[in-house]
Amino acid sequence: MDKKTNIDKVVRQHLEMERFFSGFAVKGKNPPLQPQESERHKEDTMAVAEKASELEKIAEQTRQCRLCDLGSSRTNAVPGDGNPNARIMFIGEAPGADEDAQGKPFVGRAGQLLDKIIAACGLKRSEVYIGNILKCRPPENRDPRAEEIISCLPYLQKQIEIIEPEIIVALGAHAARTLLDTTKSIGQLRGHFEEYYAGIGHPPIKLMATYHPAYLLRNYSQENRKRVWEDMKKVLAELDLPIP
Ligand code: URA
Repeated sequence: MDKKTNIDKVVRQHLEMERFFSGFAVKGKNPPLQPQESERHKEDTMAVAEKASELEKIAEQTRQCRLCDLGSSRTNAVPGDGNPNARIMFIGEAPGADEDAQGKPFVGRAGQLLDKIIAACGLKRSEVYIGNILKCRPPENRDPRAEEIISCLPYLQKQIEIIEPEIIVALGAHAARTLLDTTKSIGQLRGHFEEYYAGIGHPPIKLMATYHPAYLLRNYSQENRKRVWEDMKKVLAELDLPIP
């Protein structure tokens, strides 16, 4: 590759990455979207309404849950939100103050950045499902404790079983480590597909770990934004969705 081609490539990658984070895709300049429903999902034997009703049962269980102390310190449980038939499931760590107040995942500052990422992928928030490892806010947004994760994880595992996403995007180290049952760093886990095992009888689900939007907000470097964009491009390619 000559020097000029090299510079062109770098400039193109930079512009692509900037466009991704400035939410260009929302402004309608991108090619028309392919329908999000794949053949596999159309053929789903479990109707969407049935999935929605199963998810609502779990949501209600989380609202009643007192398995750990977070059940008494929370304002609202945050069971998760989105399309019961989603092809992509985003999974974060735990609700923060805004989520605790509203009972919905990723509605604060990190959520606004996640919305941008979803829109820049040419998707709508209503097409994906967004959940968390913990359904209740840890006080002062401290890290989840082992006993909290152990109590709470079955809710998420059941949600994944019902939704059967084609891809899980694990947001941040806590989500990725918990779902993959590993102690590896986010740097080691992101950038390639790993496999999430939903249990006997369930095919493994491809999992892409990437930086948590809150981490990205604190470390908003070009490098980090590019890494998230590269991760999301792999997700779109894997689903045969156009890269805006
Ligand atoms: N951070 C998370 O991990 N989850 C949320 O729902 C909000 C912020």
